[in-house]
Amino acid sequence: MPTLVRITFLLLLSTTALAQRSIDFMPFEMPTAGNIVIPVAEGDALTGLAAELDAKTGGALSLAATEAKFTGEKSQTLTLLGIKPYARIDLVGVGAGRVGRLTAEEFGGLAASLSDGTSGTKVGILWSGIEHDEDAGAARVAFGYRLGDYRFDRYQEERIDPATQGSVTIYSNDEDASSEFNNDLGHMAAAIWFARDLTSEPGNVIFPQSFVDRSLEQFRGLRNVNIKVLDERDMKRLGMGAHLGVGSGSSRPPRLLIVEYRGGGDGPTLALAGKGITFDTGGVSLKRNDTMWMMKGDMTGAAVVTATVLAAAKRGANVNIVALAAMAENMPSGTAIRPGDILTTMSGKTIEIRSTDAEGRLVLSDAVHYAQLEYEPDVLINIATLTGSVIRAVGPDYAGLFSRHDDIANDLLAAADASGELAWRLPLTDTYFEAIKSQVADVVNGGVDAAGASVGAAFIGTFVAEDQVWAHFDIAGVDYAETDSPTVPAGFTAFGVRLLDQYIRTHRE
Ligand code: BES
Ligand code: ZN
Ligand code: MN
Repeated sequence: MPTLVRITFLLLLSTTALAQRSIDFMPFEMPTAGNIVIPVAEGDALTGLAAELDAKTGGALSLAATEAKFTGEKSQTLTLLGIKPYARIDLVGVGAGRVGRLTAEEFGGLAASLSDGTSGTKVGILWSGIEHDEDAGAARVAFGYRLGDYRFDRYQEERIDPATQGSVTIYSNDEDASSEFNNDLGHMAAAIWFARDLTSEPGNVIFPQSFVDRSLEQFRGLRNVNIKVLDERDMKRLGMGAHLGVGSGSSRPPRLLIVEYRGGGDGPTLALAGKGITFDTGGVSLKRNDTMWMMKGDMTGAAVVTATVLAAAKRGANVNIVALAAMAENMPSGTAIRPGDILTTMSGKTIEIRSTDAEGRLVLSDAVHYAQLEYEPDVLINIATLTGSVIRAVGPDYAGLFSRHDDIANDLLAAADASGELAWRLPLTDTYFEAIKSQVADVVNGGVDAAGASVGAAFIGTFVAEDQVWAHFDIAGVDYAETDSPTVPAGFTAFGVRLLDQYIRTHRE
């Protein structure tokens, strides 16, 4: 490789925040050439913008729509090439009735998937003539576009260079769109890209310390942010035997990354604890080979809590949040923990190891204890790719939600619905706490004959004071998408940033 090429190649690999296609906003006008994307309301005949354009093109649109049986049903798309004076027209259905925020985001996401050209095209997206909710404006379309535009191709020779991708202009009469996107939703989208990058990166690139380094880079220069990193020595001093135990099989030592954001003055603190297993082999209780590669994403919880604080800090939210990312690599080796071992946690409670593959609950048991002691949060939420069991229980579209407190559970379920990141509450009753009693220690981490997702939640709950308002999300089913959807391309999803951000907006600010 010639030197110059090699240098740019290295630079590209070392950049964490990938360049993004530029999105800008213009007052509504009908572009007179190029590529355009227009929303179409569901109905027998074209209305609004589509009707206007139909008249302008001598009925070409309605003809094509009839032939293609395009009705404007939500998420239906139709691409028309070479209808003068446009190079390309994409019709995107937004369904019948008033358009809500999630539909606006999906419209944007579909627009991104329709225009992933590499040829420097200028795309005009029209968001006008569509009756929409107040929070379904052009900024939401842009947000959806950014989310749908995500890809992880940095290791591919034929990766897309965003600099050559052309630009996007959204035409609308929503006056606040530009500031809402550039000061707020755009930051959230960037934080989601960051979390998707961390989870998509392989285990040879992202390990506890490199996760920390990449995070430090993101928070550099942000106001009201304070970061602490606990290493093995700190953990030993604090007695975090469970977290240390999980990390003990790896040559890459564990870390507890703590990001404090104090934008809320004397107000209460929300603590978010995330499972950060940078690769989960299962340890000595080794996993099967066929899907083990997916365990490079076993740090989604940690990436999500870090990204949630990043989004809040970037928009300057009036809240206090602390994110605890419990990082370790779960490897089998001569120094690894084994089934039968007994670990002493920071809380003093002891754990009998039955499966070294039930490691997420181990790192979180120390993290949630530390969070309560150090921050006295009024609400503690953890998020983790904890169990295969939750996938069998609620499938690939829902996170499992567990809580002993109905109020926080209901607030979080409402945030899930509003954000489009769905959750379903599962039981966390005394049975599950009974099930994890050990013959030789205080609790056992596996080999329990009860519903696995609830058992995992109860295990973590053992380390949370009963009067501590606390909830746990098991996101093992939703952290990876097999297929594309408008705002979530196939791959690692960073599920939870939108949900937690929504909870913060409606209940903490
Ligand atoms: N990281 C896995 C859970 C997981 C499975 C996440 C599939 C995403 C997709 C977790 O550490 C694990 O191995 N859990 C075990 C627990 C069991 C040994 C008690 C499981 O669910 O099988
Ligand atoms: Zn795991
Ligand atoms: Mn595991």
